[in-house]
Amino acid sequence: MIRHLLAARHLESSEITGILNAAAEYKERVVNGENVEHGNRRSVGLLFFENSTRTRVSFEQAANYLGYRVLNFSGAGSSMSKGETLKDTILTLRYERLECLVMRHKASGAPALAANYFNGPVINAGDGQHEHPTQALGDALTILERKGDIQGLRVAIVGDVEHSRVARSNAWLLSKLGAEIRFVGPRTLLPSHTGKLPGTVYYDLASGIADAEVVMCLRLQRERMSDGRISSIGEYTRMYQINRSTLRYAHPEAIVLHPGPLNRGIEVDDAVADSEASCINEQVTNGVFVRMAALDWVFRGVKEGQLA
Ligand code: CP
Repeated sequence: MIRHLLAARHLESSEITGILNAAAEYKERVVNGENVEHGNRRSVGLLFFENSTRTRVSFEQAANYLGYRVLNFSGAGSSMSKGETLKDTILTLRYERLECLVMRHKASGAPALAANYFNGPVINAGDGQHEHPTQALGDALTILERKGDIQGLRVAIVGDVEHSRVARSNAWLLSKLGAEIRFVGPRTLLPSHTGKLPGTVYYDLASGIADAEVVMCLRLQRERMSDGRISSIGEYTRMYQINRSTLRYAHPEAIVLHPGPLNRGIEVDDAVADSEASCINEQVTNGVFVRMAALDWVFRGVKEGQLA
């Protein structure tokens, strides 16, 4: 059976733990200079139909560490610009004998559609407003490193939840590991279906982050907002920015995460983004190691909570 990684929602907690354990092990070995190659030069296609810095480069770095061959594909410059469909594009890559696809697309569900036509694993590298499972895995590893455990932590996800696939993946993944999830933001940036997500809604920043051990800031996704969701950036910043003053409402040892890219001075200010509480650089580093483990997971599976 082919194993795809399309959504954190679909992962069992034992699978999440297995991937995180493997990522931590890879981190130790790579940092110690060990050669961890075992990919036998199998071919992994990186299909990015939307811009990316962190996810694309970290998948390429992960694949390189493991000894896979990476083929980069972007919609621009491909035959999709001549009208070729996504289905025919995926079939073309299948019959060119690629063995795994890592895919980012602006449409929610596009990687799931690709999985129907490809005959190897497909990993979702972010699809529309749906999910970004490997980001959530990297965030979980970061929280584990800083806090030791995720069970019982209060995690406040602050800002533009409506447009955020990171928020959805983190809510599913961290709640499976026992965290209490809070969605915090203006009514216009919280999805209408929050009742179907594992978390509680807060419209007020102070009560939403009160005593939270983890504060996850989200980028205001202005490129996905065509309909005046906020009255002004200034007002949003005054009400929802995480800065030294607002962070006082959270737990005294709260850590701050942000998936990037940052709108510095909007959802988070420089003083917090560059502070000891900030995990932003660790999230980027851990992104490489969870993507190594994710590649292993789709190719080799897990056994008793560890990678096979
Ligand atoms: N966090 C994240 O997905 O960043 P990129 O868009 O740079 O990949």
